[in-house]
Amino acid sequence: MKSNFKAWEIKVEDFPFKGSFKDKLFFLIGFGILAPSTHNTQPWRFRVKDDKVLIYANSERELPVGDRDKRFLYFSLGAAMENILIAGKHYNFLFETSYPKSLGEPIVLTAKIGDIVDSEELIYHIVNRISNRHIFKDILPEERVLKLVGDMREEGARVDIVMGGEQKERLVDLIKRTTHSVMSEPSFRKELAGYVKTNITGSKFGMPAYVMGVPTVISLLVPTVLKYVDVESFKTKKQEGAMNAPVFGVISTEEDELKDWVKAGQLFQKIALLATKYGLSTHPMAAPLHTETGYRELQSIINTNFRPQFLFRLGYGTEKAWHGPRMTVEDCAY
Ligand SMILES: Cc1cc2nc3c(=O)[nH]c(=O)nc-3n(C[C@H](O)[C@H](O)[C@H](O)COP(=O)(O)O)c2cc1C
Repeated sequence: MKSNFKAWEIKVEDFPFKGSFKDKLFFLIGFGILAPSTHNTQPWRFRVKDDKVLIYANSERELPVGDRDKRFLYFSLGAAMENILIAGKHYNFLFETSYPKSLGEPIVLTAKIGDIVDSEELIYHIVNRISNRHIFKDILPEERVLKLVGDMREEGARVDIVMGGEQKERLVDLIKRTTHSVMSEPSFRKELAGYVKTNITGSKFGMPAYVMGVPTVISLLVPTVLKYVDVESFKTKKQEGAMNAPVFGVISTEEDELKDWVKAGQLFQKIALLATKYGLSTHPMAAPLHTETGYRELQSIINTNFRPQFLFRLGYGTEKAWHGPRMTVEDCAY
């Protein structure tokens, strides 16, 4: 396996039971770094201090065009945090959590050893979760699984399920319009191009073009072409089809503070792992959330006054998706 994919080799049974407290917390971070993040920026830095894991935003991985207010960045930190909480729970580590109140403050996880052994099995699905950008089968997930997803909550955050009917048609239409609009913006494409890599990349961050179904030969040109050409106009029918799905999920929050962005990320990660457990794929789609008009339209579609923070497709992929690269724990934790 190439060194930029090594992080995915983590094994649940390799937990350093006999190691120091610090070794154990570092091991848990190994699950944190497998979380999804915008353009696979992996915008996190972890610091282990005594009984705490501190999660900081990495300012070198901000996206001034695509994520001006850093909402998606803190969402990504929330997803990484949730992986650590889930992994910790599996080994009987419970964490007290403290959320940032202003930009630059870290998320603080304070470890406690739990009293009860409550083996958390979602940990086993962390290495199998992948964003799947292919067409989804026209099959609805089982009702009981949809209910489990729909019932998931994080304090102040909820998920709405959209499937079928006019509501879904309106949502797909919104996704198509906003995707075209975002991708027609040269500054957005230029920033994205910095994170789109060839299929043979040795980079530990960013997205090899194969995650978008691009073959290797063409992938050699993609990062350059993307800078200058609105590739959306060349989308094939198949690629357009991947904007639809039997089910969509919208995560929204009652308030709209930093803590809510983090909590939305936590909620998505739990849903994505649950979906993975049942053989379902998830695919984040952030385009409608880039502008106020976009998120307000989404609000009206799902009929809520909560603030939509995230949108994803949910279903059975028609093709296998492949992992993107990752930094190692050593690269981003100290
Ligand atoms: C906040 C956020 C926004 C994202 N937006 C999109 C998106 O609009 N379109 C897309 O295809 N993937 C999107 N993704 C998925 C990331 O590109 C993906 O998580 C990253 O490339 C890592 O790949 P993985 O999820 O397969 O591990 C988003 C992820 C996050 C966390």
